[in-house]
Amino acid sequence: MTAWKLATTNQSPASGRTVRESSSEISELALLNDSNPLGYLIGGRVMHLVDIGGAIAASRHARAPVVTASVDYMNFLHPIQIGELVIVRSSVNRSWNTSMEVGVKVYVENLMTGEVRHTTSAYLTFVAVDGKGGKISVVPVIPESEAEKRRYEQAGARREYRLEMKKRLQAENDD
Ligand SMILES: CC(C)(COP(=O)(O)OP(=O)(O)OC[C@H]1O[C@@H](n2cnc3c(N)ncnc32)[C@H](O)[C@@H]1OP(=O)(O)O)[C@@H](O)C(=O)NCCC(=O)NCCS
Repeated sequence: MTAWKLATTNQSPASGRTVRESSSEISELALLNDSNPLGYLIGGRVMHLVDIGGAIAASRHARAPVVTASVDYMNFLHPIQIGELVIVRSSVNRSWNTSMEVGVKVYVENLMTGEVRHTTSAYLTFVAVDGKGGKISVVPVIPESEAEKRRYEQAGARREYRLEMKKRLQAENDD
């Protein structure tokens, strides 16, 4: 059985999934191979990890393969030194029909001192797919904590803005 068949047969409960059930964390060492000439980790590597970390949480929520539909803007607050540990935490803030907003936060840990800094945050939208080119419905997110409920509410306004921006960009590209 292929991976996507396995995933889509593992049905989610109809009532939904809590945020905790799909929250994810990945980490990797910043290595020289991904450094810029100043000896810091290149932004593209962080963007890659943000995409992967976000996809894991979305896929856990949907129990299906997902594709990235959009990435909201990203700020890089601190440089990451080679040898530091990059930690990527992700959780699904809200889902709609086939799409999900995932919040991703990147931290960097200095393994020698234990100091941890927040370096980047982003919101990504993933769409659940069936592996044959079709989109599939996902179950609702069940927010539990006050912070999760706040993020759930705020995700609605962000989605409206995102879809409006998509429409405007498409209109500009069609000009
Ligand atoms: C993302 C993608 C699946 C959307 O497909 P589409 O046929 O345009 O579908 P729709 O307009 O019906 O959108 C599907 C869902 O995604 C949402 N969506 C689409 N574009 C979006 C965007 N830019 N930002 C946020 N949400 C978006 C829609 O609101 C809809 O959500 P809902 O079903 O929960 O209501 C499709 O464009 C695609 O496959 N893109 C390539 C994805 C990819 O390969 N990513 C990796 C990087 S190359």
